[in-house]
Amino acid sequence: MKLLVTGGAGYIGSVVTRMLLDAGHQVVVLDDLRTGHAEALAPEATFVQARIHDAATVLTREAGFDGVLHFAALIAAGESMVHPERYWDVNTIGSLALLDAVRAAGVPRLVFSSTAAVYGNPVELPIPETAVKAPTSTYGATKLAVDMALTSEAIAHNLAAVSLRYFNVAGAYLTGETALGERHDPESHLIPIALDVAAGRREKLQLFGDDYPTVDGTCVRDYIHVEDLARAHLLALGVATPGQHRIYNLGNGNGFTNRQVVDVVREVTGHPVPVEVAPRREGDPAELVASSQLARDELGWVPAKPTLHDMVGDAWAFYRAHILG
Ligand SMILES: NC(=O)c1ccc[n+]([C@@H]2O[C@H](COP(=O)([O-])OP(=O)(O)OC[C@H]3O[C@@H](n4cnc5c(N)ncnc54)[C@H](O)[C@@H]3O)[C@@H](O)[C@H]2O)c1
Repeated sequence: MKLLVTGGAGYIGSVVTRMLLDAGHQVVVLDDLRTGHAEALAPEATFVQARIHDAATVLTREAGFDGVLHFAALIAAGESMVHPERYWDVNTIGSLALLDAVRAAGVPRLVFSSTAAVYGNPVELPIPETAVKAPTSTYGATKLAVDMALTSEAIAHNLAAVSLRYFNVAGAYLTGETALGERHDPESHLIPIALDVAAGRREKLQLFGDDYPTVDGTCVRDYIHVEDLARAHLLALGVATPGQHRIYNLGNGNGFTNRQVVDVVREVTGHPVPVEVAPRREGDPAELVASSQLARDELGWVPAKPTLHDMVGDAWAFYRAHILG
């Protein structure tokens, strides 16, 4: 297939681009590099440096695209509460512009990076796709708006749409010559921050709240290896059906507390990783764990690297080789 990958210079989009190319697809990456990295771009992909708002310049009828995988977004929930206008502009208005271009060019399928943040504070665990959607951050709301637009688009215009709702993505893709990993700036994710401490780049790690109703008082989150997540995108392309908007959660169905994550980072890195308990963050639910049963049943998706050791081990290997260099 000829595919457009938006956000293909970012963490997850670059791994999916690599896998699509390795599976024999033709890929054009559209990214404005605002948070992405030129060195993460696959040399065999055509690169267009542009905003998603301008996707119509690439997605023309003549270009003959078979599908779009849409990763480009702003992703920091905390920042989205301080600068909501940026999130509505990029994540929602940008995505609607992309949808306009998809419709005008007659592109048949689209896979969208949605998020666990659409659910807000869960009322049932593990969280199924049918759970109440009540985002507690602007980030989650901007993503939910796009999910809803995709449902309408599929029904009204016969788009084959798939939303993949990721839980916490971790690890790196290290195979042969390829080394693609997480490099957000500023970093807001627990594992890379803990690795910063292990590498001596930060003094200590802050744990936000230790009085939650969990086994050790710290929040429980569901982690998914970026390699397993990326594979689900190729499977999603295969099941996308005209006129349907399919939605799948992607997590392991196993939660780990923040302290358990830090313990694994200590084991893998051999560093004591000092922690400091800080107050709870507004809107942080005690526990977020996915039910990914639907992805297993309908996509045939089975995570190959489900353990924290897999994820932290690969993230640390990437960190040492490519961030500490
Ligand atoms: N990382 C996670 O744990 C996680 C969890 C749930 C959902 N997601 C979603 O996955 C997707 C990818 O996340 P990531 O972690 O790879 O983030 P990332 O910041 O590494 O990648 C995002 C990419 O999009 C590009 N981009 C941003 N705004 C753009 C715009 N207006 N026009 C063109 N390009 C633009 C950036 O330059 C970057 O290359 C996002 O949609 C995010 O919401 C990520």
